[in-house]
Amino acid sequence: MKKINAEMDSTSLDSNKVLIVYLSRTNNTKAIAEIIHNNVGGTLVALEVEKPYPENYQATVQQVVKENETGYLPPLKTKIDGIQNYDVVFVGFPTWGMKLPPPMKTFLHQYDLSSKTVIPFNTNGGYGEGSSFQTVKELCPNSKVLEGFIIRGGLERDGQYLVIKDEKAKEAEAKVKKWLRKIKVIE
Ligand SMILES: Cc1cc2nc3c(=O)[nH]c(=O)nc-3n(C[C@H](O)[C@H](O)[C@H](O)COP(=O)(O)O)c2cc1C
Repeated sequence: MKKINAEMDSTSLDSNKVLIVYLSRTNNTKAIAEIIHNNVGGTLVALEVEKPYPENYQATVQQVVKENETGYLPPLKTKIDGIQNYDVVFVGFPTWGMKLPPPMKTFLHQYDLSSKTVIPFNTNGGYGEGSSFQTVKELCPNSKVLEGFIIRGGLERDGQYLVIKDEKAKEAEAKVKKWLRKIKVIE
């Protein structure tokens, strides 16, 4: 049987070669990124767009719908130096409109992750990752994309902002560790 590319080849990971890039509006994805960073090390980078999305939730939803329709890639304020020096790139994002958020699409278009290991992680309002992991795979055709991590975060629509804190952050850490062991990133 063909072995699927779902895990790392070795557990000895050089943290200098690990990049963790995440997009987060209400800090749930940031909380997961920090847990990964605490357990794996590496460089942690928050993705910011040149022109921030509106504060208003509905206005943001509408803007994202339009961007997805037209394929618009919002320019990033964040610049990452020496992407070629990283072997493993974690990419974290919330589900937006059941899709990969446009700024993460910009990142994956802008930076060449060919021959690197790409590891997605997602927080969402309870409806899952939608097509986001599939889109990561499509935008990284020459990368080894490992099994992603999914967890319920907030639901801004209903006034739930940062949920992954206190007891929930502890539960999240246990889940993240289990996943990192499964994909053989940590022992
Ligand atoms: C513009 C927008 C669209 C969203 N669309 C969805 C969605 O389609 N499905 C879902 O489960 N959650 C959706 N959410 C909720 C977020 O995925 C969820 O709150 C996530 O944890 C937010 O991550 P963050 O705190 O890192 O920004 C949406 C949130 C925003 C702001």
